[in-house]
Amino acid sequence: MIIRDVKTGDSERLVEIYSHYVLNTAVSFEYEVPSVEEFRQRIEKITSKYPYLVCLIDDKIVGYVYAGEYSSRTAYSWTAAMSIYVDKDYRRQGIGSAMYKAIEPKLKDMGIVNLLAGSAYCEPEDEYLTHASSLFHMSQGYSEAAHFKKIGKKFDRWYDLKWYQKGI
Ligand SMILES: CC(C)(COP(=O)(O)OP(=O)(O)OC[C@H]1O[C@@H](n2cnc3c(N)ncnc32)[C@H](O)[C@@H]1OP(=O)(O)O)[C@@H](O)C(=O)NCCC(=O)NCCS
Repeated sequence: MIIRDVKTGDSERLVEIYSHYVLNTAVSFEYEVPSVEEFRQRIEKITSKYPYLVCLIDDKIVGYVYAGEYSSRTAYSWTAAMSIYVDKDYRRQGIGSAMYKAIEPKLKDMGIVNLLAGSAYCEPEDEYLTHASSLFHMSQGYSEAAHFKKIGKKFDRWYDLKWYQKGI
């Protein structure tokens, strides 16, 4: 397993990983898969300020993680919002954990002390959404900090959003 900084040339493969979650799940509240060019621009914007890593197995990108701004208000400068996606066929092999382990020291070095992760949530699980993200974040030392009810509508169903928080 190799974890390295993202390159803009990775965009096509990252869109491939992300598209599964946009099209078939409520994990992402986006409805349409971004184009490779749009994704490339997102990478450029994020990497101008925050770390963005990809994980490779046998030279193939199998996941990515990045941090972003939670809010542009100055008082939030020590807080980052996390996003993490693992190729659907490579889940539960420790890739998500390895990427979080790699990105956290970089955020700490920037002076970030507080990590947030937003997870779509429904109870019970349905065919579009499992509790994987919630359970994953709990396993990584996050605790539940907020629970918004029925805040996003996808596939004609309402979904909750839970925020998880971790101090570093
Ligand atoms: C959430 C996600 C990033 C986890 O990545 P992963 O590589 O599968 O996670 P890991 O293998 O490192 O799992 C670490 C621990 O998290 C927990 N966990 C992860 N997936 C789980 C699942 N489906 N069910 C129960 N627990 C789970 C377990 O405690 C696991 O440890 P274990 O396998 O030793 O029991 C991955 O499922 C994913 O990409 N999901 C879609 C995107 C997403 O939801 N991102 C988060 C919101 S931005």
